[in-house]
Order: sequence, then structure tokens, then C-alpha cells
Amino acid sequence: MAENRDSLTVTRRDFMAGAVAAAAVSGAASASGSPVSLQTTGARMIELPPLPYGESDLAPHISQETISFHYGKHHKAYVDNTNRMVAGSELAGASLEDIVKASAGKPDKKGLFNNSAQVWNHTFYWKSLSPKGGGQPTGKLLSMVQSDFGDFAKLKEELAKAAVTQFGSGWAWLVLEGGKLKVEQTPNAETPLTNPAKKPLLTIDVWEHAYYVDYRNRRPDYVSAVLDKLINWEFAATNLG
Ligand SMILES: [Fe+2]
Repeated sequence: MAENRDSLTVTRRDFMAGAVAAAAVSGAASASGSPVSLQTTGARMIELPPLPYGESDLAPHISQETISFHYGKHHKAYVDNTNRMVAGSELAGASLEDIVKASAGKPDKKGLFNNSAQVWNHTFYWKSLSPKGGGQPTGKLLSMVQSDFGDFAKLKEELAKAAVTQFGSGWAWLVLEGGKLKVEQTPNAETPLTNPAKKPLLTIDVWEHAYYVDYRNRRPDYVSAVLDKLINWEFAATNLG
């Protein structure tokens, strides 16, 4: 899909360039014979976390083919790009969250922000879904939904609206801000993680690569399936604390 061309066109040459850069860093360090720091060795790499379920476990609502590409190609490419971009820099060895926050809003780090934020957003998205999802929240989260939205149906409507109306690629979110639940949408790789006042609770990926194989251009049908069958309210409740 064209909207993710940057990550899809990570070529063997790009991967090899990253490997060569990493080898050059470690090679220089070992050749010097001097002690090396974690930053120069890049010992702490950003990793592609395992999916919290099997690739086919969200079917028929999201197919194994979609997950295979979305996780195995797109998400992995964001991880590989992030590692390649931080290798040898002052951010080598930093946590993913720190990389996202350090690159946010910096024009000279736009590529790094886009890739690292997409790593974080996707890891959060996988956890926002569950083969046993759907239904509605309970306990404290449900009480807050009722006080902040009126009822659960209204929250669902707001989330669906945010997901469907996000123009182009992006994300729909449930966040906690100022003690209240809010529904938001962000474009491209933008994420509430970079706003200290906001605590992300769950997200829905509305990039075309999230649904085009299964739903073609019918984003509303994908969003409905996610909200009816897959959304993980237990994850949102855990994030709420
Ligand atoms: Fe995605």
C-alpha cells in the first residue's frame, strides 16, 4: 500500500547498510582495545516484541495474511529502521520511549520519530486487540465511561467516528487526560505518548495496511469488527490503573 511505502521499500541494501554500520561501530571499538560504552556498541537494540497471540487468532475479523504482513513486515521494518537510525548516535542504547520523546517535534529527526513512534504505536495496538476482545469494559473503567461519555454506546460511537474520519493514515485513541477519558485521532506516526498530560489507554490503527487485505476500502467495516469483536478493554483498564 502506498501510504507505507517508506517502510515497505526498506531494501536489502538498507538492511545491509545498517548491518555494515553496526559492524563498523563494534569493529572500531574492538580494534581500539579500549573499554567501550553501551552507547558505542549499541548493545541495547530496540526489539520487535512477540505478538500477544498467534497470527491467525484474530481471524476472521483480521486475517492471518494481514497480521503476517502488518507485524512481520511493517512493524519489523519500523524496528529495523529505528535501530539503523540510532546506531552510533547519542540515542544508541536509549529506550524506545526515550527515542520517541527525544525525536518528537524535531525536524532533523523526523525520520527517526516516524519509525520509532510507529514501533511504539504498533506494540500498543497489538495489545489493544485480543481474540477474546469486544464486549464492554467493567469496574472503574466502565464507571468512568459512563461519567465522561454518558454510556458505553456513546464511547463506541466516538471511537468509531475518530477511526473512520481520520483523514489518511493514522490512529484512533482512548486516552486519560486531566482525570477524564477522551477519544482522539492522530495522523501518521503521531502518538499521545509524547504529551506528558496524556496517558494512552488503547488504540486502533487506521493505516490502510491494517485492513486493506481484508476489507479493501471499507475502513468502517474494519473499525466495526475491531470494536465489536477484538478491542481489549482489559488492556485499557490495566493502563488506567
Ligand atoms: Fe500499522
